[in-house]
Amino acid sequence: MSTAQRRGFNDAITSFWSFAAPAYDQGCLQRWVYRPAQDEVVAQLRQRGSRAIADIACGTGILADRIERDLRPDEVYGLDMSAGMLAQAGKRSDRVRWMSAPAEELPFQDGFLDAVVTTSAFHFFDQPAALAEFYRVLTPGGMVAVTTMSPRRTFLPLHALSAGVGAPAHSPTETEMRALFEGAGFTVAEQHRVRRPVWTPISDVITVGVKPA
Ligand SMILES: C[S@@+](CC[C@H](N)C(=O)[O-])C[C@H]1O[C@@H](n2cnc3c(N)ncnc32)[C@H](O)[C@@H]1O
Repeated sequence: MSTAQRRGFNDAITSFWSFAAPAYDQGCLQRWVYRPAQDEVVAQLRQRGSRAIADIACGTGILADRIERDLRPDEVYGLDMSAGMLAQAGKRSDRVRWMSAPAEELPFQDGFLDAVVTTSAFHFFDQPAALAEFYRVLTPGGMVAVTTMSPRRTFLPLHALSAGVGAPAHSPTETEMRALFEGAGFTVAEQHRVRRPVWTPISDVITVGVKPA
């Protein structure tokens, strides 16, 4: 995809999520769809004792705020491209540093973080570019945890929504995720499907990678 196409795609996604931001924090939606994946990410961060953490495509900031409150690391950053989502995130915490930036171009120096996480957004990214950025900003031994919708077949509404701007969103299979991680230089440490409290036709897979020391 050309840079101009990617910019058009990112603009469309950004506008959609700014429009959807007010509905996003609804209890059922959070409990059934988004929270289970976030629980898994928090458990991974806790297990590895991560201290400088960025939540990429943080949306309204629920996960970044929770990481800050539950784990009390040294630094937590929440990044997103959507002004509407970030406006809501900003009201949630003044201890998390909220930043406007795309996943494919992170505002951190090489090796600055020891964990990068992202939930329910990877299907929107330029995936090889985002993973290359995650690798760049992580210190050796640092962890990346990505949860992504992993349907057994293409998720049509998502596909249709994004196809209009010439870059259909793509939810990778588990095998594709492994290949993407390894292609970026990560060692895959863990991968499994996330359990939700109710059955849903699509669910998340978490993939955890480590940047070799
Ligand atoms: C479904 S929300 C997920 C929000 C949050 N991670 C969560 O789990 O609740 C998807 C978010 O991804 C953001 N997004 C999509 N593509 C992005 C990109 N390339 N870079 C940064 N943010 C992006 C959107 O603006 C939106 O806030």
